[in-house]
Amino acid sequence: MLEIKELSVRFSADSTVQAVQDVSLVLPDRGRIALVGETGSGKSVLLLAVMHLLPESAVVTGEVLLNGEDILKMNRKQLDKLRGALISYVPQGGGASLNPLMKVGEQVGEPLVEHHGWNKKESVTKAIEVMRSLNMGNEEELALSFPHTFSGGMRQRAMIAMGIIAGSKILLADEPSKGLDEDRVDLVVDSFNRLTEQSLLCVTHDLMFASRISDHICVLYSAAQVEFAKTEEILKDPLHPYTRDMVKAIPENGMIVDNVGFAPSHDDFDKGGCRYRHRCTHCTEKCNEMPPLFNVGERKVRCWLYENEN
Ligand SMILES: Nc1ncnc2c1ncn2[C@@H]1O[C@H](COP(=O)(O)OP(=O)(O)OP(=O)(O)O)[C@@H](O)[C@H]1O
Ligand code: SF4
Ligand SMILES: [Mg+2]
Repeated sequence: MLEIKELSVRFSADSTVQAVQDVSLVLPDRGRIALVGETGSGKSVLLLAVMHLLPESAVVTGEVLLNGEDILKMNRKQLDKLRGALISYVPQGGGASLNPLMKVGEQVGEPLVEHHGWNKKESVTKAIEVMRSLNMGNEEELALSFPHTFSGGMRQRAMIAMGIIAGSKILLADEPSKGLDEDRVDLVVDSFNRLTEQSLLCVTHDLMFASRISDHICVLYSAAQVEFAKTEEILKDPLHPYTRDMVKAIPENGMIVDNVGFAPSHDDFDKGGCRYRHRCTHCTEKCNEMPPLFNVGERKVRCWLYENEN
């Protein structure tokens, strides 16, 4: 189980950029959470913080507990043991980071050679097995191919295979469907849905993609978590005004965008108040104060409209 507790990230010497604010999430074994939000809302920084991969300019507070141990307190040696073996990360644009000069089978199997002392031949055999479990098709042939012969969707799937090959039970993925056409997105969805032993924390700006790969959705807006609920609840009955606007804006719902505006700047964050108030049609005087996350049944919503449903 992965437990993120009150995680916050600020950047720069004077900490002027609040990239993530007070996010708490529990990813149970075999759970699937999609992190959804617009550009700059802190999705990638959140995943990097969980992996303990942020640069030194980041001031990180809170806890990231993996089976009870705080990843943020681990040293390099402990992190090396953890990454790949217990928790893996496929970065944004990850498919592009495959080495063009190395055959795909060798790359997928590389974590076994690097961290677990396997020889190359054994690792390629295992890579073929894992690629087969993801239903990539012609796996022996694919293993001998170079990445440039792969489509974007196939490269993403190779990255997923690499992420799980060393036995990792938690996969973090950043925008795995970005830039892919519909057929390629289907391939990525299919691969995720074949991961029956792993839990998944997946960043996406695409709510429809999120609905196909997750059981819960966490919505981020301007660094803060604004809603957390079961995926079907978010799509059928979104509560937070931002989530409602986002759901109305998906093509299947008519792409209704009736509150065009920009997310607040980081300077505005420190003035307090609900970050969505400049775009929200329900805004009142009360919204000049930042709302806490209210519990609404099993859901969580950061909006004063739900104050009395606690
Ligand atoms: N290394 C860094 N130094 C300073 N600020 C940063 C750094 N990395 C990210 N930020 C800032 O943190 C905020 C959150 O960035 P993040 O990359 O997490 O957004 P995102 O939700 O992943 O957006 P996108 O959908 O465009 O990928 C942004 O304001 C960004 O400019
Ligand atoms: S707290 Fe106020 S401004 Fe913010 S989303 Fe709720 S109603 Fe809108
Ligand atoms: Mg990002």
